[in-house]
Amino acid sequence: ITVTSECPELAEPYLRQVLDTAGLAVEYVRAERNTLYRRGADGEEIPVSDFAGGYGSVLLGHNHPEIVTRARELLTAQTPVHAQFSRHPYANHLAAALNRVIHRELGTDEPYFAIFGNSGAEAVEAAVKHAELDRGMRISALLEEADGRLTAARSAVADGATVPAEVCARLGVPATEGFASVEREIRRRNEKSAASPPLFLALEGGFHGKLVGSVQLTHNEGYRLPFKSLAAQARFVPNGDADHLRKIHAAERRTLLAADVVDGRITVTERELPVFCAFLVEPVQGEGGVHPLTAAFAGEIQRFCADIDCPVIVDEIQSGMGRTGALLASSRVGLRGDYYTLAKTLGGGIAKTSVMLVREARYRKEFEIVHSSTFAKDSFSCHIALTVLDLLERDGGRAYRRAEERGEALRAVLDSVHADFPDVVKEVRGRGLMLGLEFHDRSGASSAELRELAGSGLFGYFLAGHLLRRHRVRTFPTASAVNTLRFEPSLQVSDAELEQLRAGLREVCALLRKEAVAELLPS
Ligand code: F0G
Repeated sequence: ITVTSECPELAEPYLRQVLDTAGLAVEYVRAERNTLYRRGADGEEIPVSDFAGGYGSVLLGHNHPEIVTRARELLTAQTPVHAQFSRHPYANHLAAALNRVIHRELGTDEPYFAIFGNSGAEAVEAAVKHAELDRGMRISALLEEADGRLTAARSAVADGATVPAEVCARLGVPATEGFASVEREIRRRNEKSAASPPLFLALEGGFHGKLVGSVQLTHNEGYRLPFKSLAAQARFVPNGDADHLRKIHAAERRTLLAADVVDGRITVTERELPVFCAFLVEPVQGEGGVHPLTAAFAGEIQRFCADIDCPVIVDEIQSGMGRTGALLASSRVGLRGDYYTLAKTLGGGIAKTSVMLVREARYRKEFEIVHSSTFAKDSFSCHIALTVLDLLERDGGRAYRRAEERGEALRAVLDSVHADFPDVVKEVRGRGLMLGLEFHDRSGASSAELRELAGSGLFGYFLAGHLLRRHRVRTFPTASAVNTLRFEPSLQVSDAELEQLRAGLREVCALLRKEAVAELLPS
């Protein structure tokens, strides 16, 4: 098939128009280390410093030489990429290597079982499906136990135990009909409660993917509401608000009834029914505006979820894989997950892979038989991910230290811009090499153009377009918080590139300060 530049635009042409509006519709022709190369007017390569970093996927840099070499070796050796339903020793090696690091960071030796996927959202879908399988099995066990106790109570009544009037009154059944109506009502209520749809808990500003199940857990209403009818819903909690957690639980909890015999009389007790399927949390909210989780709130979430026996899914897809100075950013705030999701840098900027990890205490082996994907757990991706882990863990984890050191250097640049332009910059936030700089909302600006820009929903995209055009810096706003620019460069980001960013941000702030909007926009 010959492809010429005149071919019709059929791969998301509208998105291309939106990119054009902000001056972001450039073509990149090569990528190496922290640099993307765009094509200039007369065909030359123009280097662009990459602070978008593949939305967090290229911590090790674009086309890292050791990863490219490994990819070449694998393909030359004709690695069996499609060998589904076979031993997959490389997947076990990768799962074991991930466990070794997780055990070191969490101070535990509990195994985490691995289910591989192809993208971040797919790992979230797998975690949600496993949690629902587990929830269903727990409910079945509770129903069976309640059934056994009802049978025992029935035979106790046959042997003379009595049914107090207040028990009938509590269940709203006539006392005249004796235990039969009590038993019927208890079964009816238990079946009804058990059939309640599962609920998820997630944070406001949270992002967990855009697939059918995961999009319900992503707070952004634009992404979520059109698809609300497709899957189980989440209740969203303001970041840091533990009281709100308790209110949601009080409003949505369900119980199962059990009948027992105490001193020859029937009593009815309640047991918590697992309505809440899982609590999803990012250790550093990425797409929602780069908001780190505090250790205090992490502790509140941990205690709340333990109290109601609701598993915690720690979504490390963007914050994980070394970006904040550890494999698990959550290990720094004392949060212990029942599940973890990892993706992005796991594939080393070359392979598309993700993994969902389940702690042994919650693992249901039956899940392996009902969940799969054609491309997941393949030899190529697993070997590339093993190379990624080797690069992170080498020399006692030098890469993690580098992420901290480069993160501090980047943070210093952003803080200096904030210090010089407090009227333009609202806040700098984040951990390690996952940082965000939030601009003040300019909806109240004196210039109409700036008010319009502030209200366009594309504010950060126009700033990104200016940084690209005038300073050869590539970055984006966090899509659900467009006043915040995100900075997630690779470990190779140089001091010169940090100075390039400083200059670019200072010029943007100066233009915003004097409300010179025309100079910010593409001509
Ligand atoms: N979870 C988190 C925390 C993410 O940041 C992302 C993607 C996903 C899940 C979904 O992963 O795109 O591979 O399916 N974050 C990108 C962003 C899109 O803009 O921050 P995916």
